[in-house]
Amino acid sequence: MKRFAPIAFVTAIALFLQGCAGWQSALDPKGPAASELAWLIWFFTGLCAAVWVLVMIALALPLMMRPRERAEPLVIDADADNRKLRVVLTAVGLTAVILVGLTLLSFFANRTLAAIGSDAALTIRVTGHQWWWEVRYEDATPSHILTTANEIHIPAGEPVRLLLTSTDVIHSFWVPSLSGKLDLIPGRMNVLDIKADKPGVYRGQCAEFCGAQHANMGTFIIAEPREKFDAWWNDQLGPAAAPMSDEAKTGENLFLKRPCVMCHKIGGTPAGGTVAPDLTHIASRQTLAAGTLTMSRGNLAAWIADPQGVKPGSHMPVVDLNGDELNAIVAYLEGLK
Ligand code: CUA
Repeated sequence: MKRFAPIAFVTAIALFLQGCAGWQSALDPKGPAASELAWLIWFFTGLCAAVWVLVMIALALPLMMRPRERAEPLVIDADADNRKLRVVLTAVGLTAVILVGLTLLSFFANRTLAAIGSDAALTIRVTGHQWWWEVRYEDATPSHILTTANEIHIPAGEPVRLLLTSTDVIHSFWVPSLSGKLDLIPGRMNVLDIKADKPGVYRGQCAEFCGAQHANMGTFIIAEPREKFDAWWNDQLGPAAAPMSDEAKTGENLFLKRPCVMCHKIGGTPAGGTVAPDLTHIASRQTLAAGTLTMSRGNLAAWIADPQGVKPGSHMPVVDLNGDELNAIVAYLEGLK
């Protein structure tokens, strides 16, 4: 048993360190805000660790000294007392200097963070819902305003301003590879500026407990070159693709006649609900139900047939459909690229 202890220890550490990299890690920064924060936390950790080690040494040294053989009469030594007083005062002074220094560092880091998005050309309003993200691209031209859900495309290398709010409870927007977290509060608008240095997909997670499916409230920042981003925005502005097959046509009719239409919008059709994700281009997204399932025909069917099994407590109701009807609706939705 003893032989396996080191192996178990190394394995545990290796598994633990796995969390330090990848598409959702504050220790693997991919943008200026996350880099600033990572630098700050490493500096704080290093300095505090050094102070801790020094304090431990200062404590351990007298403890390790050989105890005196017998009690000696108390001698008042003014010089020794003065030396000790100087040591204590120096330690107090150093502590004050370190604390003030760390406070100043935090202050300047905050200023750096605030400067990231000061010239942001793109503003995206992110609204938290139990348990998904509404994403609205603002534009001076009303016909260019785009609403989508859960996945946030941004141009790489450019600052983007996020306006964060919520319709129900407090959520928290956190994409660790790109920035710190910020709450989405009903009735309030918080501003978070982000920037991704390079194209890539960065995972985010709601970071404030917001109810039963808090853990299944994921988001994805998809940073891509400017031309690709512009093309994506243009595509998304278009109406939903017309159904290509008879089955998909049946699916569209069913969708419009059943309760789906009460909550979801599909651009170019009479479906105009706004309390649930916009489905105009749902099949172009990589996941379903805010990162709960990957996008596929099977998962679409599973989600519609049994939303409470996939995401218990979610506000997606079970719609009464037979097998053929379910297949038809799935055929329609999977064509909405
Ligand atoms: Cu939304 Cu936790």
